[in-house]
Amino acid sequence: MSSSGADKVDWQALERLRLAFLKGTAGDRDYWDHPSTLASYDATFAQRIGWKWDFVLAELARRGWQPPRTELVDWGCGTGIATRAFLDHFGVDAVESVRLIDRSPQAQRYAAQRVASRFPGMPVHQGRGEAVASMILLSHVLTELQPAQVDALLEEIAGASAVLWVEPGTYEASLALIAIRERLRSQFHVIAPCPHAERCGILAPGNESHWCHHFASPPPEVFMDPFWGRFAKMLEIDLRSLPVSYLVLDRNPAPALAPELVRTLGRPRLLKAEVRLMACTAAGVTERAFSRRTYPSVWKDARKDRIPSLWKVPDAE
Ligand SMILES: C[S@@+](CC[C@H](N)C(=O)[O-])C[C@H]1O[C@@H](n2cnc3c(N)ncnc32)[C@H](O)[C@@H]1O
Repeated sequence: MSSSGADKVDWQALERLRLAFLKGTAGDRDYWDHPSTLASYDATFAQRIGWKWDFVLAELARRGWQPPRTELVDWGCGTGIATRAFLDHFGVDAVESVRLIDRSPQAQRYAAQRVASRFPGMPVHQGRGEAVASMILLSHVLTELQPAQVDALLEEIAGASAVLWVEPGTYEASLALIAIRERLRSQFHVIAPCPHAERCGILAPGNESHWCHHFASPPPEVFMDPFWGRFAKMLEIDLRSLPVSYLVLDRNPAPALAPELVRTLGRPRLLKAEVRLMACTAAGVTERAFSRRTYPSVWKDARKDRIPSLWKVPDAE
């Protein structure tokens, strides 16, 4: 939304949502009380979530993954930003139809309108349907679910063709996703972010303080836009920081990964004489150090935040 649309945003509703998300009370009841709450969320929080999806979908493209062509289900759809990001990325021909599921019928309706107006001709259904081997998107739902609801959800998605799950890059959300990965990895191929299908290395003794998270980038114009400036100020949100945890599973394997590739976790730590970064491989999650003297370009790339998420460790220069 541009600065001219800022007066249409219900800032008080956004503040209420933010507090509920922060306090962990958003799961207690349906908070989509008015269409303007959905529209305000869609113009702000959902856009930021969309940038996280753009990051994840770009990683999947780099990974050579293609979605199975089937029904696309957006579970806990809210305003349907995950579906829109997915269809923007893969195109309408990548799916047969869209199904939007949310405990809030009002959210389902809003999301359906947004998807239908952006992708005319796409069959869009609301609410649960027949069990089919769908491709399931889940976005920022875990913090609103009790453990028993997560169990029920995992049963619900057990027959899926593929699962794309994006959550905030917090310690708690990452550990919850890792626990889900451990429960599902014998039934699916693990496509991303893991470069392997073994037990998650974060769970190894000694790694208790670490978590699997990555950073998406907002479009650069956001930093010049008065609307986003106002959003950042009113809701006390750092626009630069978009931490994300995610998990992609598929019944079918993706193209094999070159064995020398490592997944970098979090941000590299830039010290005067070296860069330290957490790296994930089948051998585990370890911190690796690259001295500035031996790896000057690694140090420079880390300073400019240009170390790729999936990375081949360069030779010493
Ligand atoms: C933080 S919002 C995220 C919405 C959307 N997926 C996104 O990424 O913008 C969480 C969504 O989960 C929905 N939700 C919460 N509990 C649910 C449940 N038990 N079943 C279905 N949807 C649920 C909420 O109504 C809300 O739309």
